[in-house]
Amino acid sequence: MPLTRREFVQTVGVGAAGALTSSYIGARGRENGVWAALEPSLAAAEPGTIVLASNENPLGPGKTVLDAVRAAFGDGGRAPGRYSGSAGELIDVITKKFGVKPENVVLGCGSTQILRSATHLFTAKDKPLVGTIPTYEECVGYAEMMGYPVRGVSLDADFKIDLDKMGDAAKGAGLIFYCNPNNPTATYVGAKASRDFFAKVNRESPGTTILVDEAYFDYVTDPDHDTHVPLAIENPRIIVARTFSKAYGMAGLRMGYAIGHPETIKKMAEWDAGGGTSSLNVLAMHAGIAALSQAPGYITAERARNTEVRDFTMKWFADRGMKPTDSQANFMFVDIGRPAKDFRAACRARGVMVARDFPPFEKTHCRISFGTMEEMKKAVAVFGDVLGKKTTAAAA
Ligand SMILES: Cc1ncc(COP(=O)(O)O)c(C=O)c1O
Repeated sequence: MPLTRREFVQTVGVGAAGALTSSYIGARGRENGVWAALEPSLAAAEPGTIVLASNENPLGPGKTVLDAVRAAFGDGGRAPGRYSGSAGELIDVITKKFGVKPENVVLGCGSTQILRSATHLFTAKDKPLVGTIPTYEECVGYAEMMGYPVRGVSLDADFKIDLDKMGDAAKGAGLIFYCNPNNPTATYVGAKASRDFFAKVNRESPGTTILVDEAYFDYVTDPDHDTHVPLAIENPRIIVARTFSKAYGMAGLRMGYAIGHPETIKKMAEWDAGGGTSSLNVLAMHAGIAALSQAPGYITAERARNTEVRDFTMKWFADRGMKPTDSQANFMFVDIGRPAKDFRAACRARGVMVARDFPPFEKTHCRISFGTMEEMKKAVAVFGDVLGKKTTAAAA
């Protein structure tokens, strides 16, 4: 349903229409929709559908961000805010959050732009992309579109990145896509093992760049977790990608960024200006400034909310003999012992959407994103019905 600019200004943050706008900004369902063109987002699904097909924050962006978007229009939409300073201001806020310098940061239209520019810059016909199978599809899809080779690396027995295999595949590669936590498996490789791995790649394949995707970092609770930003700003061969689409609930606004060494960031910024997308959106930048400027408690609370829902849902499956991977994100990957396609169709018929197929595990595993606790309580009743597992293994 298109909104005119005036209607948009009038409705942001107000009652039911405000909730609608919040759902456009939160864009729940976006990520699955990008890859499964026929799956509708929450806004397009029948009312009451529980959308667990996509990894966006189910609560959307929150009042602080919505207020910032409204304020960016100026008074009544008549006096729009100043455009030119927004990117610099957002970069300033990011530098303060991470203790880095402006030359360490480049903004992107979603982290998708960061993933694409890195793939464009660092892969070539003779410089393959390396990524796990499965992982988030953006870099692989983009490399293949350009006709560049891709080396797929299988996961280890715990569905984590297999560092030995990835290290072997890295030799002579252009770019490693290091998605941690990995989408769709939700698993996380600890900070120390990751650092050791990066050092090994630097030693054994000095021409290889490593793109560390921290899209779900805010949800990690593993005691050995840490951002790799401090390494990236020192090392031209490491880049960290971040997004506002997940814990900050802003997927519809399209805002992400990379942090890295000034030389690497300069190349990425030049790519954007010279034939890239140049596609930053001023409303998204204002929203990003507001999102990062709010009290640090925002992320702590969002992580705690997700952890409670995650514990509840994973226990529900484990109690019924279905083992999820060790989720460190806002979604889980679970062995349901049957094709995801059949499960997905049966859940959809009962008002719950779960994610697309993730080969090579589509015959046994399904990815389920975490909604609110209220939604998950309803969803597990549907799962119990569809899987014939209403009771726990102990009770059966
Ligand atoms: C691991 C990962 N990276 C990047 C993205 C892209 O997100 P965006 O372009 O909305 O920032 C996604 C989206 O789901 C993702 O799962």
